Amino acid sequence: DGAEPGGLRTPIVAVLGHVDHGKTTLLDTIRGSAVSEGEAGAITQHIGATAVPLDTVSEMAGDLVDPTDFDLPGLLFIDTPGHHSFTTLRSRGGALADIAVVVVDVNDGFQPQTIEALEILQRTGTPFVVAANKIDTTPGWNPNDGLPIQTTYEKQSDSATSRLDENLYEIIGDLSDEGFSADLYWRVQNFTKNVGVVPLSAITSEGIPDLLAVLMGLSQRYMKEQMAVDVTGPGAGTVLEVKDERGFGATVDVVLYDGSIRADDEIVVGGLDGPIITEVRALLQPRPNAEIRVEKRFDKVDEVRAAAGIKVAAPELDDAMAGAPIRVVRDQNREAVIDEVEAELAEIQVSTEEEGVVVKADTLGSLEAMANALRESEIPILRAEVGDVAPRDVAVASTANEETHRVILGFNVDVLQNAESELEESEVRLFDDDVIYQLVEEYEGYVEEIER
Ligand code: GTP
Ligand code: MG
Repeated sequence: DGAEPGGLRTPIVAVLGHVDHGKTTLLDTIRGSAVSEGEAGAITQHIGATAVPLDTVSEMAGDLVDPTDFDLPGLLFIDTPGHHSFTTLRSRGGALADIAVVVVDVNDGFQPQTIEALEILQRTGTPFVVAANKIDTTPGWNPNDGLPIQTTYEKQSDSATSRLDENLYEIIGDLSDEGFSADLYWRVQNFTKNVGVVPLSAITSEGIPDLLAVLMGLSQRYMKEQMAVDVTGPGAGTVLEVKDERGFGATVDVVLYDGSIRADDEIVVGGLDGPIITEVRALLQPRPNAEIRVEKRFDKVDEVRAAAGIKVAAPELDDAMAGAPIRVVRDQNREAVIDEVEAELAEIQVSTEEEGVVVKADTLGSLEAMANALRESEIPILRAEVGDVAPRDVAVASTANEETHRVILGFNVDVLQNAESELEESEVRLFDDDVIYQLVEEYEGYVEEIER
């Protein structure tokens, strides 16, 4: 649940970083779950959300977080896939997250998606801390489960601490190369000016108390004003995923970042063919500490207040789009709300050309990321849309003049049954993959073969 009226909104904390650096495992440890183990190849494919109540935070953080010091209801964590950047983690043109944790594998150091995450945070002006993860893999490390970092650090051998220090200073140096003044978090006075680095292990929980203390302190001290909003007004959110749910049909998983949503509200949702105007049938809330992405049990509730992850069941949601805005109408002018949703959808359109390939992706975020990757490789796009491969896509792709453009690139999508036969009968080649750079590489290999 969000705060009481006049209380504070739950801060939204995005967890970003390179693939396999430990984002999901870190959240698993905090919420006491095993989401990472259930993922195919331990790769996160969709953005998720988990509400972690203040009790859980203070329990994990031990002496470092005294719950009576805080009037924040807890933290809403957003997990992101590390294999491509999520530029659509946004709200009303701004950033969805209030603060962020950039997870860096202490041995691997900075990697492409680390830098991409930092660039996004810099562009959106989002304050963040760096979690220098996997300290338990430092040669000679003696784990002390759940202890604050300085306590466990003091118990290590000189050779282990000097190896860890070396890696930590490399990370601090890399941050400085990216234009951030950074230091180990206990030396940082003002977290809005300097980036704090928190050494930790998602497996042994060492240093996690420190991370939670820093996040709570940062939110409470520097974001109190931002959190003191009316959490009972008409809600605004971002769609994470569109999913069929037994007994409800198509539903949307939403991060509500402002106001509230009620079980009898009229809503406007960004869809494949423009705004969808519908009425909430049910609000399904994941339990505290549950990841909405994998949760199977939901509580039916009458109202949810920001910030929260919530599954919304309503008629007509089949064409809703992941990454699109959702708005509550309630006492506002319906037309104005529709205009607002339309304007936001227009902002995320991918620019296309007269000649090029057809791109299909599962969310607006991945479509945008695909478009960026293709632009970097100078591959022109004829049409780019969210959704599964349909007969119409085959028809469009087959009109391309050049053989190398009679192609559909599908990211994380299925081929509709009636499109399969059309694909077989046409000259159109389909490439599908769930890793963007592999998809681009496969296509580039195909072009080389044709041009040879
Ligand atoms: P993507 O979602 O694919 O971007 O990856 P991720 O950042 O969520 O990484 P994930 O949590 O799935 O962890 C990747 C691998 O690293 C898993 O095998 C984890 O068990 C392992 N791992 C994560 N954190 C730690 C840690 O602190 N110590 C050790 N030893 N292994 C870790
Ligand atoms: Mg993950």
